[in-house]
Amino acid sequence: MKIITNITEMQALVKELKNTNSIGFVPTMGYLHEGHLQLIRKAREVNDITIVSIFVNPLQFGPNEDFASYPRDFERDVSVCREEGVDIIFNPSVAEMYPNPLSVKVLVQARTDVLCGDSRPGHFDGVATVLTKLFHLILPDRVYLGMKDAQQVAVVEGLIADLNFPIELIPIPTVREEDGLAKSSRNVNLNSEERQQAPEIYRALLEARKKIEAGERNIESLVTMIKNNITKKTSGTIDYVEIYSFPELQTIEKVKGKIIIAIAVQFTKARLIDNIVLAVE
Ligand code: PAJ
Repeated sequence: MKIITNITEMQALVKELKNTNSIGFVPTMGYLHEGHLQLIRKAREVNDITIVSIFVNPLQFGPNEDFASYPRDFERDVSVCREEGVDIIFNPSVAEMYPNPLSVKVLVQARTDVLCGDSRPGHFDGVATVLTKLFHLILPDRVYLGMKDAQQVAVVEGLIADLNFPIELIPIPTVREEDGLAKSSRNVNLNSEERQQAPEIYRALLEARKKIEAGERNIESLVTMIKNNITKKTSGTIDYVEIYSFPELQTIEKVKGKIIIAIAVQFTKARLIDNIVLAVE
């Protein structure tokens, strides 16, 4: 396994590999857990070369967000990647990726006025900008993204289509703890009481799904039910509970077609997100 920190070196290596190999790319911010590993395993199944980037991207964090305290453990990430058979880790410094103030940024025009885009202004511009750079550097055939960050999947789908990247986007279902909590690097920031309450987010989603399966189509009553469940059973503050079409993230009048139910809850030191995507007749 190679560890590369330098952009020129990364580009030279990709140029050489690209002739005879397909490249699967898993972009991450490190502190790898089972969710990331699932993406890596899927990438390894079909690509000749699997490249994992580990880069905590300052551009996608707001001024009051957790860039400085975002968990990091590079040594552990390296050994996990080695065990998983990753071929290359790309781990640039912030100065390597952003040596100068940017003269060009990628601004996302759609799918960001709701959910995390609404409560984290600029976040998806930061994601789109860093992924544009990484796509140019790594020239992947396929990119693997987790459905845990469903809005990110929707935005990157638009990025790939609109900027004509010759890349196939492969969305991977959310990997969960045994109690249903979506695996996340931020879960370590929950205190023990919050950790016990956190699975209620997924339980509320499952209960909404059950109601839909039983015929409920009214968005307001589903949202109210979810909010009541979370308020009753956790000490977290609800940031949003919303239902949209997926992947367009457009407002809908009732539950019909491919939809997403998405939740964000703020705990003392961690903001958790979760969602389910359903196809409803
Ligand atoms: P990060 O939060 O490290 O996540 C990297 C990838 O792992 C994302 O595609 C995310 O959706 C996926 N992932 C995280 N938890 C998961 C889970 N429980 N199940 C399945 N997949 C999961 O997302 C980012 O980094 C950044 O925004 C990035 C795309 C790297 C751009 O900086």
